[in-house]
Amino acid sequence: MSATDTPSSYTPPRKMPARTAGSGGQFTPIRAEITVADCVIEGQLPSDLSGGFYATGPDPQYPLRPGNIPFDAEGHARLFRIHNGRVDYRTRFIRSLRYLAQDRAGRSLFPMYRNPSLDDPSVQGLNRTTANTHVLNHKGLILALKEDSPPVAMDLNTLETVDPIYTFDGQLPETQPFTAHPKICSRTGNIIAFGYEAEGFGSDVVSVFELEKDTGKKIWEARIKVPYVGLLHDFGVTENHIVLYVVPLAIDLEQMRRGGVHWSWDATRKTYFGFFRRHGDGKDLRWIEGPAMSGTHTMGVFEDKGRIYLDTEMTPGNPFPFMPNKDGSPPDLPGSYSTLHRISANLNGPNKGYDVEMLFPLNMPLPKQDDRYNTAPYRWGYGACPAPEGQPPGSCYAAMDVQTKTYKLWNAGPHISLAEPVFAPKHAGSREGEGYLLGVAYNLNEANRSDLVILDAERVDEGPLCKVRLPVPASPQVHGWWVREDQYPT
Ligand SMILES: [Fe+2]
Repeated sequence: MSATDTPSSYTPPRKMPARTAGSGGQFTPIRAEITVADCVIEGQLPSDLSGGFYATGPDPQYPLRPGNIPFDAEGHARLFRIHNGRVDYRTRFIRSLRYLAQDRAGRSLFPMYRNPSLDDPSVQGLNRTTANTHVLNHKGLILALKEDSPPVAMDLNTLETVDPIYTFDGQLPETQPFTAHPKICSRTGNIIAFGYEAEGFGSDVVSVFELEKDTGKKIWEARIKVPYVGLLHDFGVTENHIVLYVVPLAIDLEQMRRGGVHWSWDATRKTYFGFFRRHGDGKDLRWIEGPAMSGTHTMGVFEDKGRIYLDTEMTPGNPFPFMPNKDGSPPDLPGSYSTLHRISANLNGPNKGYDVEMLFPLNMPLPKQDDRYNTAPYRWGYGACPAPEGQPPGSCYAAMDVQTKTYKLWNAGPHISLAEPVFAPKHAGSREGEGYLLGVAYNLNEANRSDLVILDAERVDEGPLCKVRLPVPASPQVHGWWVREDQYPT
């Protein structure tokens, strides 16, 4: 491990949100594979919006065992295909090796989240991916991601599974963990990804690698070590640096021996912010120790005048109340309140810990950006959040300007649950923020019957330009991805 700097003394805010956007409907099991051709549209579908809104989320193939967590359900992919003024909707379960084995057996064979010791003997050693966290387009495919495994590849148009272990033409081992939050280089289009526990279960090694845009050829890899084996769900990439953060949701082998899940929240540990040169050998890695907070999702990252800045949502405690606390204490709901923070550190000189400041007082566990700016300085962020203080109760979409630290909100009302949105540029060359925000609204008063809402990203406060009405609830969603029309194979 590299040198570790001394901790800072930031005290994170603790406050109970009125209601968490996205919690009401987006994780409700549906289990049905749905196709709806030429959906009913209320309002005017923008004529310059063309592409596909993809997402995946956990949907139990078989009921979860008591004590298991919602994250351990099979990936169910969905697509809103927008083309020539119409919208077609399609969902398909992702045929991972786990899904196929359970389908043959007619029952659940993997009873506990990321605890293979309890797996049915018939599937011992089988890849356990659920592919239920995120999606990404590559070489005319949609890759479904779960951070403990390689991607599962699906057909871009049909969502049929074409490869249950996608190794980029054999370049990655079939055991290679692959983050659910790879970044697309803003300059080259390359994919930058990492995998933690890279040398086997419980390993403290993280592999970070870069794959060429068009060929998928691996052009760089570095292996580094973490201060302890904790969750590294997301990261940051700039033109010159890789940024990691390790949070106190740590592997708990004793809990696993008792039949529990992989992680527990260990409040005695610290959070580490680390960075090293991209395309280097990782030997320049620096870890900076800070307060025990959880940072789970990156909104954006950039460098300026010798400092590196990471904008991420952070919680003062365990971000997932369904993950146990190591000390046996009950779930700390105020501690899971997630707000957008900016972490920064001096790239060159000594540090007395990293600096932390709150960017926006919005409860937003799933912030997004215009994904063309993954590795470049950026201005606009987006996300779903409960209405902040002073607003009527409701679920909101926000467009946030990180330069002026102001934001605009659309409040969908108290009976709507909004899933994470995606940003769709009007075209490949649009300036940052010029485009649309697309998200799924689950109508809690209509048993989760859902609408795709489409807003002008520069006028979010004016509300949807149109709603694409589904006759059914949308499938569960964690994260989504926009594929532009010019990214489809001709
Ligand atoms: Fe995530």
